[in-house]
Amino acid sequence: MDSASAAPLPHLLLVDDEPVILQILRAVFQEEPYRLTAVGTGSEALSVLADQGCDVLLTDKNLPDVSGLELLKAAKAKDHDIEVIVITGYGSLETALTAMELGAFDYVLKPLNNVFDIRRKVRQALDRQNMTRENRRLVAHLSEKNQELESALAESQKLQAELIQSEKLAGIGTLAAGIAHEVSSPLFGVMGLAEAILDEHDPALVNGYARDIVEYSRTIRDIVMELSSYSRSATTEYLTTVELARVIEDALRLVERSCPVDGVRFETHLAEGLYLHARTNEMQQVFVNLIKNAVEAVNENKPEGGGKVVISAGTSDGVVWAEVADQGGGIPADRVPLIFDPFYTTKPVGKGTGLGLNVVYRILTKYRGAINVQSTGPDGTVFRLRIPVQG
Ligand SMILES: Nc1ncnc2c1ncn2[C@@H]1O[C@H](COP(=O)(O)OP(=O)(O)OP(=O)(O)O)[C@@H](O)[C@H]1O
Ligand SMILES: [Mg+2]
Repeated sequence: MDSASAAPLPHLLLVDDEPVILQILRAVFQEEPYRLTAVGTGSEALSVLADQGCDVLLTDKNLPDVSGLELLKAAKAKDHDIEVIVITGYGSLETALTAMELGAFDYVLKPLNNVFDIRRKVRQALDRQNMTRENRRLVAHLSEKNQELESALAESQKLQAELIQSEKLAGIGTLAAGIAHEVSSPLFGVMGLAEAILDEHDPALVNGYARDIVEYSRTIRDIVMELSSYSRSATTEYLTTVELARVIEDALRLVERSCPVDGVRFETHLAEGLYLHARTNEMQQVFVNLIKNAVEAVNENKPEGGGKVVISAGTSDGVVWAEVADQGGGIPADRVPLIFDPFYTTKPVGKGTGLGLNVVYRILTKYRGAINVQSTGPDGTVFRLRIPVQG
């Protein structure tokens, strides 16, 4: 198949009421690779435009029925890409300028003695038209790609939020056993005191028991509230100003209540006034995971006389940093690159999902923060994280 038949030839519509000029124009473009239509009146030109359109309209300004400027407007209204060149006399240069204002590509002056000039102008008009069409095609293609990317991004954000939430819910399963234990002592206290009240007639004692019941109930309420605020979905929570020291203390309390921490000594060095623009819930999730890992490492390692978990936080150069250091058994150097991968765990089945650090990493990345293992060895591990204050 030859290449000419692949793309249709550009359609050039010539309009002039003087048969001689029309003949000259035909001759000018005879050898050019265009499809030519030549008509002598404005109304014929209008019907060609309506039926087939054209790519370039080369029209005389003065036609007996419809003026060249009217044709120009009709062509632009039909298809804004149609390029129009107006033929005009020296005397009506002003009309030529009006034509340019109305969107004409160019004008040529009568008498038509420079054939090359006319050909060049038509070629340039076609070049501009091709460029305009190509640009539009590219823009459409780009915006289509853009939409695809936007919806892929939205989908991945949704999946990420779901993953973070499901890690938290899975974590709550393991936290819940500890919490149930924590709730059971004040609950037994409440039950015992309530039974004692049933048999007690001394109003002063009854009053004292009742006060204790209120105390115990408050403890239970606090525990339940901590857990329910932790389990809340981050998508339902707004970004607020979060004070890091409070978040870390809450996370520490939650871990203390939920894991066996007998052999662990906690130490905190938290600077006051570390504010971040974040979701409390997500920040809490970061520290619950890091502290829980530290406690689990110390428990597994069981150093002489127990081990320490030290949590520090401070700020420097517009960055808030925090550190969770433990005296657990450390992480073998060849395993360090794996620990942030989802589902990487060395814990027994049913104990760890291997999602903790992955979720920590995802949350921090969301806030343009970073986390790394600063040092790990037989004396323990230090996780260090940084979050820009602007979030
Ligand atoms: N402080 C630490 N000391 C030693 N090893 C650690 C420490 N923190 C993490 N690890 C190692 O990294 C692995 C992955 O940790 P991650 O928190 O992602 O999952 P997990 O603790 O195993 O399970 P999950 O957090 O879901 O309960 C752990 O199994 C452990 O081998
Ligand atoms: Mg973990």
